This record gives sequence, structure tokens and C-alpha cells, in this order.
Amino acid sequence: MARALKKQPSLVTERLRLRPFRTSDLKAMHALYSDADNLRYWSTPASPNLANTRRVLRWHLPYRPRHYVLWAIEQKKTRKVVGMINYHHRNVREQRVDVGWLLLPAFQGKGYMAEAGRALLRHLFDELGVRKVEALIRPENTPSATLAERLGFRLEGGPIRDRWQVDGEWHSVMLYGLVAGEERTGPDLLP
Ligand SMILES: CC(C)(COP(=O)(O)OP(=O)(O)OC[C@H]1O[C@@H](n2cnc3c(N)ncnc32)[C@H](O)[C@@H]1OP(=O)(O)O)[C@@H](O)C(=O)NCCC(=O)NCCS
Repeated sequence: MARALKKQPSLVTERLRLRPFRTSDLKAMHALYSDADNLRYWSTPASPNLANTRRVLRWHLPYRPRHYVLWAIEQKKTRKVVGMINYHHRNVREQRVDVGWLLLPAFQGKGYMAEAGRALLRHLFDELGVRKVEALIRPENTPSATLAERLGFRLEGGPIRDRWQVDGEWHSVMLYGLVAGEERTGPDLLP
């Protein structure tokens, strides 16, 4: 059932809190968005300076559930922002969204994004009544493809040619899809 929550919900997992971004997250956001190596398979270029990150943060703040929503991923025990997860390109009529995920390198390889991803999927299916979740992933991005499959996504198509332009270069992507009810939960998420 599609509900309209008035306020962006925080999604809490065992180790993480997914919560709305705040203006005070600017420095943490800059650490996330300025790392060109970590963003080498991302759909937009790394942020060149703090002023640019401030502009990026501006569209992270509003709650626009019919279109897109971004969450800061906070490590519960330290309250440090370690990443971002979002849905975007929501098509309400077709009950479909795209998702994106990004973690600071020091926090990768701990199963954090699988944990955050499961919480986001629960929100999308249970609260928003989404039927289909899609992820566009560069063929070289093995960690992201592995994560998608760990969550239950299937490779549905690709390479979809010249889908993203980054710094003047065109990139093709693979299409991963997950239909409600196919998500993987629990012990089979472990490596
Ligand atoms: C893609 C990305 C978000 C994956 O994040 P992640 O937290 O490392 O992914 P997972 O949650 O699937 O964790 C998997 C790793 O944690 C390990 N792990 C440790 N404890 C775990 C646990 N309790 N549960 C699951 N996995 C665990 C797994 O063995 C696996 O390690 P490996 O990478 O050595 O195989 C991250 O690599 C990233 O931010 N990349 C840069 C940005 C990017 O390209 N984003 C995607 C654009 S499409």
C-alpha cells in the first residue's frame, strides 16, 4: 500500500541509523563526494571543492518522497556519517524506483551496505508500496554488483550503452532489478 509519510523516516538497523541529511553534515559529505577514486564508477564527477559540495548538499536536504529521498548512513556507536543511500527516479504509477549507495572506503567490506540496503528495501516495499527496485551499475563495479545480488537483485539487462556521461566521457551500465518478494534476508546475506 502506498502511503505518504509526512516526514522522512529514520531507518534503524543493528549497527546503523539511516537518517535525513542536515546542513551540519557538510564536512562528512565532502569526504564522501570528493574522493575521486571511490567515485570512479559513480554517475557524476567527484566534487572539486567544498562550495560545490554545499550545492550538492542543498538537494540532499528536502524530503521529496514522490521523486527521490537520500539518507545519511550513521554508524550507531560513533554517530559518524559513513555513507549515503537513496532512491530516485521514482515512478509512482509504475511503482518503481532506482537506488544508489556510497560508503567511505574505511567502512566498506563490513556488510554495512547490505544492512542499509535491506532497511531501504523494507521501507520501499512495506511503506511506499513499490513493486520494482532497479540499480544501474557499471560492469566494472564488482563490489556494487555483488551487493545487489546479495540483496536479491537479478541481472536483467545490459550493457545499456552510453547511459551516463561523467566528465565528458560516456559510460554503459548493467541493469539489476528486484521485484517485491524476491529480496534476500537473514543468514543467506552473510558471505
Ligand atoms: C558498493 C559499496 C556500497 C558496497 O559496500 P559494502 O558495505 O562493502 O558492501 P556489503 O554490505 O555487500 O559488504 C560486503 C563485504 O563485507 C564483508 N562482510 C563483513 N561482515 C559482513 C556481514 N556481517 N554481512 C555481510 N557481509 C559482510 C563481505 O565479506 C564482503 O567483503 P568483500 O567486499 O571483501 O567481499 C561500496 O563498495 C562503495 O561505496 N563503493 C563506491 C561507491 C559505488 O561505486 N557505489 C555504487 C554505484 S552503482
